[in-house]
Amino acid sequence: MRPRDGLLRTCHAPTTVETAPQLRLSSFFLDTRILGRDPSTRAETALPWRSYTRPRMSPGTSPAAHHALFPGTFDPVTLGHLDIVRRALLIFGRVTIAVASHPSKRELLPLPERIELLREVTSDLRGVSVAHVPGLTVDACLALGADVIVRGLRNSIDFEYEAQMARSNRALAGQVDTLFLASEPEHVHISSTLVRQVAEMGGPIELFVPAAVARALRARAAPRTSP
Ligand code: COA
Repeated sequence: MRPRDGLLRTCHAPTTVETAPQLRLSSFFLDTRILGRDPSTRAETALPWRSYTRPRMSPGTSPAAHHALFPGTFDPVTLGHLDIVRRALLIFGRVTIAVASHPSKRELLPLPERIELLREVTSDLRGVSVAHVPGLTVDACLALGADVIVRGLRNSIDFEYEAQMARSNRALAGQVDTLFLASEPEHVHISSTLVRQVAEMGGPIELFVPAAVARALRARAAPRTSP
């Protein structure tokens, strides 16, 4: 979760190469063909266990040939998120929206509904797909063949947190890089937490989310109008 108090949180990245494959590969049914090398031989290199394949972002390759992953919890997806998706699609040929669960965030929309809504509001965008990501973002990248992670930045607090996450993800998988897109000024005040709060108070959430999402939120959030 992005910090609201300016403090960075520590990513829960594995610290030993020994435990990494068992922890996460099963979620995506990755095998050695996807990873490019038998993980049992990883000890032969001094590199982190995911860094042994050649970076796919090689010089001269058109960005349109690349596949970007846009991860987040999307509870709910906001106009700010959709702006990032659209702009990422102008750069990359494929964009997969990776929907994660965040144990420390209070959930309003259940995961299947978040995925369904994302599919609905991006149905007009060719090249965009939506996937559930049960584990690490970099594992999803490796499993889906994505070589870039895209994240939106609203302010300097976002930047500090995102830079730490991007570096951690590169330590986990050196072939996956992160691209930041600066949020448009009209979206910098939007956050999913704020939208959930406004929904629960019966406020005009159409200012922040697409109409379909606003309807779903209204159906879920019992407005706290009684004293
Ligand atoms: N415009 C407006 N708001 C935006 C925005 C934009 N362009 N981009 C992000 N936001 C808001 C979101 O609404 C959200 O608000 P909230 O905190 O009130 O809910 C907030 O910024 C960021 O949330 P989200 O995009 O869901 O990111 P997150 O900080 O909760 O992290 C993951 C989610 C999925 C990226 C992260 O937890 C992750 O990578 N998880 C997988 C596990 C993993 O790989 N861990 C190792 C990481 S090093």
